[in-house]
Amino acid sequence: MDWKDREQRFLQMMNRLENAPEILQLKQYPQHGTNDTFQHSHNVAVYAWHLARRWKWKVSPEDLAMGAMLHDYYLYDIEKSGLTDYRHGVRHPVTALENAEKIYELNERVRNIILSHMWPLPFTAMPKSREAILINLADKYCAYQEMKKGVVRVEDILKNGDK
Ligand SMILES: [Fe+2]
Ligand SMILES: [Fe+2]
Repeated sequence: MDWKDREQRFLQMMNRLENAPEILQLKQYPQHGTNDTFQHSHNVAVYAWHLARRWKWKVSPEDLAMGAMLHDYYLYDIEKSGLTDYRHGVRHPVTALENAEKIYELNERVRNIILSHMWPLPFTAMPKSREAILINLADKYCAYQEMKKGVVRVEDILKNGDK
């Protein structure tokens, strides 16, 4: 299978997920900077896919898309939650997984992508696949771009040649 087919599968899965009412709920919850959690998750998916292509890592396009769109599926506003940053940081991958499993049947790889996206926090929740490593890196990169630089759409950085 060539990269064109892979990309097609990635885009198809993204399209399916981004039109699901359950995932669209993420638009209600603010994230880093001015973004909401839907836009942040979209950015993580796009950037993780960008890295996969750049490094020629033959990952599962479906698992990557699904892991990205569900990695922060914790469904609350951090500010209003009363959780400390540390508590939220450690706890939200577990909450995201619990919520995600109510709406989708997830395979082991997607479960690990969600649980390990904050690694090394906690240190025991390690990324166990290339997909999980890509989401872990893309999440940190996107959070940085969104928070420190006010980037809304990661496509704008990719287009402008920050590769
Ligand atoms: Fe997160
Ligand atoms: Fe995130």
